[in-house]
Amino acid sequence: MHKRKKIKKSVWIILVIVLCGLLAMGGILFINLRKLEVKFDQKDVNLNEEIYNTDFIKELKNGTVVTEKEKIPTDKLGKQEFKIEIKDKKGKIKEYSLEINIVDTEKPQITFTKELETKVGETIDLLSGVSVKDNSNEKIDVKYEGDFDINKVGKYELRYVAIDSSGNEAKENFTLNVVENTNNSTTNEKTNTNTNEKTNSNANTNTNTNSNTNNEVHFTTSKGFKGVTKNGITYIDGYLIVNKTYTLPSTYAPGLTQESLNAFYKMQAASKVEGLNVWLQSGYRSYDLQDKLYKNYVATTGQAAADTYSARPGHSEHQSGLAYDVNIINDTFADTPEAVWLANNCYKYGFILRYPKGKSNETGYKYEPWHFRYIGNVELATKLYNNGDWITLEDYFGITSEYSD
Ligand code: DAL
Ligand code: ZN
Repeated sequence: MHKRKKIKKSVWIILVIVLCGLLAMGGILFINLRKLEVKFDQKDVNLNEEIYNTDFIKELKNGTVVTEKEKIPTDKLGKQEFKIEIKDKKGKIKEYSLEINIVDTEKPQITFTKELETKVGETIDLLSGVSVKDNSNEKIDVKYEGDFDINKVGKYELRYVAIDSSGNEAKENFTLNVVENTNNSTTNEKTNTNTNEKTNSNANTNTNTNSNTNNEVHFTTSKGFKGVTKNGITYIDGYLIVNKTYTLPSTYAPGLTQESLNAFYKMQAASKVEGLNVWLQSGYRSYDLQDKLYKNYVATTGQAAADTYSARPGHSEHQSGLAYDVNIINDTFADTPEAVWLANNCYKYGFILRYPKGKSNETGYKYEPWHFRYIGNVELATKLYNNGDWITLEDYFGITSEYSD
C-alpha cells in the first residue's frame, strides 16, 4: 500500500515537470515569433545607379521601416554611409548603420574616325580626331596601340585604348591608311583661283590694298607692316601668316620645313640636357587631314566649340609645315616641366608659343601650351617672348584672326 502511494507521487511530479517544460517552450516560441529580424543586402552599387535606402533590406520580420524611402546619392565613387530605423512589435526603434560601396563598371566611350589617311613621310596626329567620355566625368587620356610605318604605303590596323580610374578599359579599332605621296616642290606654286580670291579679300581688311598683275596683293597692316598675298599665301614683313583671317591654298603641302625641323631637333636636344623629354606629337597636317579632323570635332562638340580649338581646313598653321604640337595635346601638359621649359626657352631656337593663355581674343584660339610655331628669326621670337608675357603675332603685326563667315 505504502509503495503504491509512492509511485502515484512520482507520476505527479513527472507530469508537473513535463507541463512546466511545455509551458516554457511555448513561452520561448511566443517570444521568438514576435522577435524583430532584419537582414541587409550589402552589395556594391554602380556609379549613378538609381537606388533607395530601403532597397537594401533583404528580409524583415516583426518590424516596420520608420525611415522614409530616400534616394541614395551615387554620383561619387567609394563608400557611402546611411542609416535606417526599424520599429519592432513592441514599438521599440532600432537604428542600423549601412555602408555601401559605389563602383564604376562601365567602360569609357570613345568617339573616333574609323579610317585615317596620310601620305608617306608626312606626320599625322592619330589622337587629334578622337575624344572620350566616361560616366565618372573624369578626364581620360586615349592612347593608341599597334605598329605602323609612316614611310611605307599600307593599311595599318590600330586601336584606341582608354582606361578610366576604376580600370574599365575601352578598345576601338581603327585603320591608318598610308597612301603614296605625290607631292613635290612644285605643288607649292600651284594655286587655285578660288582660294586666291578668298585670300585677296582677307587682305582687303587692311589698308592700302593694291593689286598687281603678278597674282599678288599688297597691303599694310594696322601697325604699319607691309603684307603680301602671293599665290594664296600671305606674308607679313616676310613671315608666313595663317590664322582665321589668312588662309593657305588647299594645294599648299610643304611637309615640315627642313629649317624648322633642324631648329626643333636643337631645341629637343637642349631640353634633354635638362633631363626633359620633348617629342613631336603632331607636325605637318595636310588640308585634307585638317578637314577630317575639323569635321570630326564639329560632329562631336558642335561648330562653335570646335572653332575655339581646331582650325578650319586651309586655316591651320599645321598646314604651313611650321607648327609643332609636342608631347600631350591637352591642358594637363601646361603643368609639366617640359611645358614650362619650352615656354621659357623656345624663342632661343626661333619658336614662339603661338596660342598663349588669355590671348584667345587675338589668336582666335584657346590656350595651347603644346603648340609652337617656328618663326626662324630669334630676334623677333625674343620680342614676342616678351620676358614670358607672350605677344601674339596678331597683336605684333596688327592683324585679325577672324573667319569672314
Ligand atoms: N589647334 C590649332 C588651332 C589647329 O587646329 O591648327
Ligand atoms: Zn597645333
